[in-house]
Amino acid sequence: MTAPEPIPLARPELGGREEALVLEVLRSGRLSMGPMQERFERSFADYIGAPDAVAVSSGTAALHLGVRALGWGPGDEVVTSPFSFVASANCLLYEGAKPVFCDVDPVTLNIDPAAAWEAITEDTKGMLAVDILGYPAALPELERIGAEGGLSLLEDACEALGAVDSEGRAAGSRGNLATFAFYANKQLTTGEGGMIAVADPELAAALRSERNQGRAPDMSWVDHDRLGFNYRLSEVQAALGIAQLERLDGMLAARARAAALYGERLAALDYGAPAGEGDPDGLVLPGADREPERRSWFVYAVRVPAGADRDAVIDDLGQRGVQAKAYMPCIHLMDHVREPFGYQRGQFPVAEDASDRLLALPFFPAITESQIDRVSEAIAEALRGNWL
Ligand SMILES: Cc1ncc(COP(=O)(O)O)c(C=O)c1O
Repeated sequence: MTAPEPIPLARPELGGREEALVLEVLRSGRLSMGPMQERFERSFADYIGAPDAVAVSSGTAALHLGVRALGWGPGDEVVTSPFSFVASANCLLYEGAKPVFCDVDPVTLNIDPAAAWEAITEDTKGMLAVDILGYPAALPELERIGAEGGLSLLEDACEALGAVDSEGRAAGSRGNLATFAFYANKQLTTGEGGMIAVADPELAAALRSERNQGRAPDMSWVDHDRLGFNYRLSEVQAALGIAQLERLDGMLAARARAAALYGERLAALDYGAPAGEGDPDGLVLPGADREPERRSWFVYAVRVPAGADRDAVIDDLGQRGVQAKAYMPCIHLMDHVREPFGYQRGQFPVAEDASDRLLALPFFPAITESQIDRVSEAIAEALRGNWL
C-alpha cells in the first residue's frame, strides 16, 4: 500500500494572475521602486480602508519602522502580549525599549485590557497590541486606556488581514499605525513582505524615507537626511501582492469554510478521554467570533487536552503524514527576553497554558474536506496514544 500524500501545514494559492503580473515586471526591466509598489500600496490601503500604506520587506521591518515612528526608545516601557510571534517584542528591543508583558484573554488570546491597565507605570509610553491568530485585539478599549494615559498604540495585524473589530472596523483602519506581513503562510503572500497602514501624511513620508536608507523623495540616490534601512519591497513581490489582493476575499472565504469544517469534525471527535464541551482542560477549539468582531482565519490551532503530550502528538501526526506545529512559545520565557528583564514562568498563566497546549493544524484555502477528515482522524488516534 502506498502511503497517503502528506498534508502540509500551509500552502499559498498562486495562479495565472500572479504569473502574468510577475512576468510584466520581468519584461519591464524595473525590479525595484517602480509602479507595482505604488499600485500595491494604493490598493492595499483601499482594501483595508486606511488613508495610506507603505510597503516594506517584511512584517518585522514594518514593526521596526512603526516603533521608530512612535519614538519608543531607551527608558520607555511598552505594554504588549507575551503570546505572540517573537518579532512583536523584538522590534521594541531593536530600539532599546522595554517590552512589559501582560496576560491575555483566555478565549481570544489577545491582550486582556484590564491586565494592560495594571501593567502601566510612569515609564509606559505605549501599547503594542497583536491581533493574534487573526483575531482582532480589543482596540477600542486599549485606545480608551491609551487616551487616559497619554499612550500611543501600535497594532500588529501581521496575522489579521481582513479581520474586523468590535466597532466593525477592519484591522489597520483605525488611524493607529498598523503592520501587516506577507510571509508564505499568511492570508496574502508575497513570499516575504510587509506593509504599514498609516493615516498621517508626514509619518507616511518619514516611513517611506526610512525604508529607503533615509532618502527623501526629492533627493538624489546618495543623499540621506536621516538614519534609514534597506526595508524595500521588490517589484516582483509587489506584483504578487497586487494579484493576491485581487483574490483575497475568495481566499479568506475558503479559509473560513475550512475552519468551519474543522470545527464540525473536531467537536465530534472521539479521542478516548472524557471532555465536556466548554471544558477548558479538554480539547479546546478556537473561540467563536464575538459579533461584530470577526476573525480573519490565519492558522487553525487547537489546544490539546491538559493531560495530553502535545509534542508527542505532533510527532505522531507527522508519522501519519499530517504536518502540525506547536504554536507558539511565550516570548517572556525566551532567553534573550527573560534574562535581561527577569521574567519567570508562572507570571502569565493564560498565555503559558495556551503556549503549552496549542497545536496548529494543516490549514490553507485549497485544503479539501477529505484532508480535513484525515487530519481529524489522525488527531483522534494521536491523542489516544499520547497522554502524559
Ligand atoms: C504576529 C506577528 N508579528 C510579526 C510577524 C513578522 O512578520 P515577518 O515574518 O514578515 O517579518 C509575524 C509573522 O509571522 C507575526 O505573526
